[in-house]
Amino acid sequence: MIERSDAEKLPRSCHIPVLVAEVLEWLCVRPGQRIVDGTVGGGGHASRILDQLGRDGRLLGLDRDPAMLEMAATVLDHPGCSLHHASYSQLANVLSGEAGRPPCEVDAILLDLGLSSDQLSDEGRGFGFEHDGPLDLRFDSSCGRAAWEWLATVEERELEQCLREWGDEPESRRIASELVRRRKATPVRTGRGLAEAVSEAVGGRRGRRHPATRVFQALRIAVNDELVHLERALSDSLPASLVPGGRLVIISFHSLEDRIVKRAFGKQDTWTKLTQKSVRPTPREERVNPRSRSARLRAAIRA
Ligand SMILES: C[S@@+](CC[C@H](N)C(=O)[O-])C[C@H]1O[C@@H](n2cnc3c(N)ncnc32)[C@H](O)[C@@H]1O
Repeated sequence: MIERSDAEKLPRSCHIPVLVAEVLEWLCVRPGQRIVDGTVGGGGHASRILDQLGRDGRLLGLDRDPAMLEMAATVLDHPGCSLHHASYSQLANVLSGEAGRPPCEVDAILLDLGLSSDQLSDEGRGFGFEHDGPLDLRFDSSCGRAAWEWLATVEERELEQCLREWGDEPESRRIASELVRRRKATPVRTGRGLAEAVSEAVGGRRGRRHPATRVFQALRIAVNDELVHLERALSDSLPASLVPGGRLVIISFHSLEDRIVKRAFGKQDTWTKLTQKSVRPTPREERVNPRSRSARLRAAIRA
């Protein structure tokens, strides 16, 4: 569990939470409830949830990234709030606490998937196209392999498949071949290095997006096993942790995640859909916070 003791000395989040009014509406938070923010990040959504929970409510915040939990601790000053370094796919274990006790159930769960602006702007993590720090791309750098290490040994065919399936990258073959070719003389080690290698392989910018956008997404999904955590959580940990009638709200940022959520919510023995179509940000929110443009919210009730 994360302590708040040094919270005042730590930097605050620059992340603007997306779809805040919609999250509060679909979570339907009432005073005294027990709520989980499974991707607490810098605590943007969580602090708004705490405002509605009152002094008797409980909020558990989880994140795979210890740096984000430290940031969340700076803003979540509430006696009923606890922060845990864990994946939301391990929620049932976190809730069961001490061994031997049955897991307690919660009234609602929020997942706001993907990456926070704080992670994106951290030079040392490699998420940015112009960063000269190591191309790490892990949420939790204490386990698994950094993206640059993976790129150094992965087979060209596996890399091509990763870019195609998880980045929906039409030039996957050409890019994989370029990244493997570079290994001998100039292996990719940084965010900037990856962005340059991709630009060279596909010949510059395509539309409004940076040509490496899909490649960064694919590698991030690969090194964090992101879709495995989501699928496992939806079939196991999340339904096991909610009271019958409890609510699950999920914001996804690309079609792979949204498809998994939509398919899971279609299982009527486990979920009753609250949203038939995904909920999108208003044009105003998209203008004020362009990062919200790809956000899609879905909500369901535990059957
Ligand atoms: C979009 S940010 C959340 C921002 C947060 N809602 C806010 O308002 O500040 C997503 C967060 O989810 C975390 N994350 C990604 N996958 C996770 C997982 N499987 N379990 C827990 N946290 C995860 C990331 O480290 C990141 O901090």
